[in-house]
Amino acid sequence: MDRIDVAVIGTGWCGGIRAETLAVNPMLRLHIAEIRPDRLKEVAEKTGAATATADYRDILADPAVRACYVCTTPESTHYPIAKACLEAGKSVLLEKPIAISLDEADELAALARRKGLKFTIGYSQRFNGKYAYARKKIQDGSLGEPVSCLVSRHITRGLGDKITGRGRLSPAAMECTHDLDFLLWCLEPAKPVRVYSQGVRRVMYPKNGAFDQQWITVTLDNGVVIVVGGGWILPKGYPNFSSTWIEIIGSEGALIIDDTHRDIWLNTVEGGSVFPLSTMPGEQVEHTYAGGMGPETMYFLDCVVNDKPVLVTPESARKTMELYLAADLSAEIDEPVDLPLSNAHAARIAEMVKQ
Ligand SMILES: NC(=O)c1ccc[n+]([C@@H]2O[C@H](COP(=O)([O-])OP(=O)(O)OC[C@H]3O[C@@H](n4cnc5c(N)ncnc54)[C@H](O)[C@@H]3O)[C@@H](O)[C@H]2O)c1
Repeated sequence: MDRIDVAVIGTGWCGGIRAETLAVNPMLRLHIAEIRPDRLKEVAEKTGAATATADYRDILADPAVRACYVCTTPESTHYPIAKACLEAGKSVLLEKPIAISLDEADELAALARRKGLKFTIGYSQRFNGKYAYARKKIQDGSLGEPVSCLVSRHITRGLGDKITGRGRLSPAAMECTHDLDFLLWCLEPAKPVRVYSQGVRRVMYPKNGAFDQQWITVTLDNGVVIVVGGGWILPKGYPNFSSTWIEIIGSEGALIIDDTHRDIWLNTVEGGSVFPLSTMPGEQVEHTYAGGMGPETMYFLDCVVNDKPVLVTPESARKTMELYLAADLSAEIDEPVDLPLSNAHAARIAEMVKQ
């Protein structure tokens, strides 16, 4: 039986998860690239990767590799590495954000289209069963006409420090982006027409210039209002990694989702109380995967091998990007921003993302 060659570029936290998920599939031959030698060795040993290199261009030069998972940080590496993969004829799953600027996102989407390659962005929450259920209940009309949606997400300060330590990206770009993507997906074909955002500068700002918490209110063209909040300063002693509360209200019903990860409680003499399995991507647990990133990793491969459409199109990721950048602009100028962006606002955002 012919095996399919796939590669993971950047095997830190998420890339490590993707590599381990791919490694257990007997139909695949895994290749990995990682610039940290100790981590490269660790993941190569754990996954039994067929090849392991510090230079991802070795993977691009291998004609057998059909698909690349690009999981590098800092986020400014996403565009050049994804572009190089697509140019080399590889289908790509790229971790969010798709790019730093809208022009880069457009270029990647156009390149994938031109080359006839699969290209998707890692909005892993779409592969979490609770979130998929919400979309189903909205789209099948169970809730009637959508009225309003709220997602409030918090992650711990340890993760916040890790993310803000590598670049100037806001909670909108790094956290709320998942929930904006999720709600736009649920409420398709409605489109955002106005966004207003406010950010708070108290804990993080003196260290790295980032907001602690950002709230985003979005009006859609069908009149629905969505509110998304993302924060990353839960104290280090908080017993889990992420905590999310969702309210979806319709004319005929309501759906409340508790994704606060308080449903499993481990209490030990040494470690005290923790709520396990609470990260956003999830984790492998023995023979099964608890969370969205495992199924998302395999779903993409199914699209590549069987020529199926990807779930997260680059065009939808671009829409989400335009929305969170508009939110960042709104927070900066302290005014609502209309969508699609005016030329003046687009120019202002282009300047903002260069800083
Ligand atoms: N979908 C989700 O739920 C989710 C969760 C967390 C992070 N993310 C996204 O995933 C991406 C990765 O996040 P992470 O937490 O795994 O980061 P990480 O820093 O733990 O891992 C990134 C790895 O990329 C490596 N790298 C950098 N440049 C490289 C290069 N040129 N070639 C090979 N390797 C290179 C780094 O050495 C590092 O090990 C981020 O962009 C983030 O936005 C997604």
